[in-house]
Amino acid sequence: MAKSSSSAAPRYNFASGPAALPSEVLAEGQEALTDCLGTGLSILELPFSGPDFTRILTAAEQSLRHLLRLPETYRVLFLQGGASAHFAYVAQNLAAPADCAEYVVTGLWSRRAAAEAARYCRVRVVAEGRDAPPPEAVWDRAPGSAYCHITTNETADGLQYHWLPAAGDVPLVADMSADLLTRPLEVERFGLIYASAQKNLGIAGLTLVIVRQDLLHRPCAGAPAVFDYARQAENRSKVNTPPTFAIFMAGAMLRWMERRGGLEALAEENRRKAEVLYGAIDRGGYYSCPVAAGSRSLVNVCFRLPTPDLEARFLAEAAGRGLLNLQGHPAVGGIRASLYNPLPGEAAEALAAFMDRFRRS
Ligand SMILES: Cc1ncc(COP(=O)(O)O)c(C=O)c1O
Repeated sequence: MAKSSSSAAPRYNFASGPAALPSEVLAEGQEALTDCLGTGLSILELPFSGPDFTRILTAAEQSLRHLLRLPETYRVLFLQGGASAHFAYVAQNLAAPADCAEYVVTGLWSRRAAAEAARYCRVRVVAEGRDAPPPEAVWDRAPGSAYCHITTNETADGLQYHWLPAAGDVPLVADMSADLLTRPLEVERFGLIYASAQKNLGIAGLTLVIVRQDLLHRPCAGAPAVFDYARQAENRSKVNTPPTFAIFMAGAMLRWMERRGGLEALAEENRRKAEVLYGAIDRGGYYSCPVAAGSRSLVNVCFRLPTPDLEARFLAEAAGRGLLNLQGHPAVGGIRASLYNPLPGEAAEALAAFMDRFRRS
């Protein structure tokens, strides 16, 4: 969201996560820090098993179910660990050590997910794509695999699936840390979805897991009790203390998304923001985007300038004009503009105008 400094120029935060939050949501969080929903207590002091926090948790789940049109057959878990921890917990919950899990590698995060899962079960990389998700026809699938894993949006590489694989009888599992709730989703196509919260769902500390209930109780090596998805589902995410403030903030974000008109409306806004930036990249042959046109991410726009020196100058000048946190992932480099739900359209316009000026300078 836009923040004004005392010198009045707007400041836009393009960070990839933790990322920009809407000012209304920050204000709700601030109020809850001193008086949470009229209890007279801070959200930080509320017992997680009491009725007040239970209401907060229930309301957040209801909003999520409403926004995603989540079928009753899916359970929602509010857990800790970050998506990186769930790279392991997904394998521990869905596969026995001798089972084979399939991974489609399309960038940094799916590569990390596959490497971590390989510590707990057999991993087969069934296809790789560098500038686009490989078409499903070339995936080297095998019947009887425990699950098939994709990363729907590669945050570091700026690549996104704009189609969904069929996956057949093998449950499709997706890391949606960067694009869950940024567009409508056919949840029924997935067996399990997980996402860190600090991009579109509030703040760090919360990992959302949405799991089809028939996948709970698989005969697996087993995860630690607090990351046993079946146990957490039975206990409404309260096997141990859940990240209460992060859940409060997720609820506030979800209500904000409902007020903004839901996922169709947000998707349209996100598409427009991305179009503005890709337009600036494609103008004038100066910037380059390594991702194929049909697979460019609508939420993490990654691009390069002709030299690293020019990239450094671009970042410094952009920051000087209030266009903040545009550096690419340290492992990838370049420039990255993250355009999650809260980032206003005018931020993309301001960055595109800066890019045009910089190109001509
Ligand atoms: C797609 C994706 N997966 C996983 C992660 C890791 O999330 P965390 O740092 O919360 O473990 C990130 C973080 O940026 C991500 O973008």
